[in-house]
Amino acid sequence: MVVIRGATTIGVDTPEEIKTAVGELLREVFDKNALTKEDVSAFVFSLTDDIHSFHPAKAARECGYDFAPLFACIEPNIEGGLKKCIRLMLLTELSREKVVKHVYQKGAKNLRKDLSGIMNIALDGPAGSGKSTVAKILAKDYNILHLDTGAMYRACGLKALREGVDPQDTAAVEKLLPKLNVKVEYIDGKQHTILDGEDVSTAIRQNEVSMAASHISAHRAVREKLVEMQREIASEMSCILDGRDIGSVVLPNAKFKFYVTADSKVRAERRYKELIERGETVDFNELHAEIVKRDEQDSTREFSPLCKAADAIEIDTSNLGIEESVALVKSFIQEKI
Ligand code: DC
Repeated sequence: MVVIRGATTIGVDTPEEIKTAVGELLREVFDKNALTKEDVSAFVFSLTDDIHSFHPAKAARECGYDFAPLFACIEPNIEGGLKKCIRLMLLTELSREKVVKHVYQKGAKNLRKDLSGIMNIALDGPAGSGKSTVAKILAKDYNILHLDTGAMYRACGLKALREGVDPQDTAAVEKLLPKLNVKVEYIDGKQHTILDGEDVSTAIRQNEVSMAASHISAHRAVREKLVEMQREIASEMSCILDGRDIGSVVLPNAKFKFYVTADSKVRAERRYKELIERGETVDFNELHAEIVKRDEQDSTREFSPLCKAADAIEIDTSNLGIEESVALVKSFIQEKI
């Protein structure tokens, strides 16, 4: 017996998506391996436990693969595993000498990095649009890295504050640059931002650092240094980068580009809640004014301003919850993957 493996993912759990995904997967497995009905002994599917709306074995039967026994079982939910995934083991009568081609489609390509290329997703947008939260969830679901580029600019802003350098002063910032030692490390898939050897992942979230980051990110020399680091990381592995200029400058050739935005009041409310939950004292109106100011600074600066790349898909999260926003982004990725 020779087994051909396959896997695919769905964006939303609907019978139509499942039937389409199973049909496409089987078609490619059959085409790539030039299979006939007589070659097949059984179809064995497994599905992740977040799929409920339709049975993949029934989908296969409905797609005309009714000439061999069909079976499907649910996989246990494994932390960090790919979500909404349907796997196939096709048991065949092929000779052992035959070289078979396994098929990994859509998000499942990532299960076999050797079969897939590097997948980069650019997620740009203003502060508080929800892009970071969306990026974190997508990275987990697709099992790829999340690079929060804002954290890198925040570390530069923190460095300036610590050294008593005005982040708006170009000459002083340029003098500071050779001393700037920012790194990102990953521990259990979570980004840690390191400044001069110290993990500053929490310190960079302070409100005063936000404005310093916005100012310091306007300098060409700062951007050149950080953009180079970001490109290097993205060239080595599949990742989702969130920032302001990913789709327009850092990775203009990224296959997937999104511009996540929301009304400034809604964004201020989100940041307000976040800071209050962290025990910080903040005034809502001040926070809103700061967000508007930061938007203006980020989008009017000379080098790599915040902007929607011409080919980016705009996602307005003003009236969307996190899950809805993620599902929307995923539905576009699934279409193109
Ligand atoms: O996403 P954030 O709020 O953590 O970003 C902090 C600041 O860094 C933001 O005001 C603008 C800047 N930034 C940037 O200029 N380019 C990026 N790719 C990411 C962030």
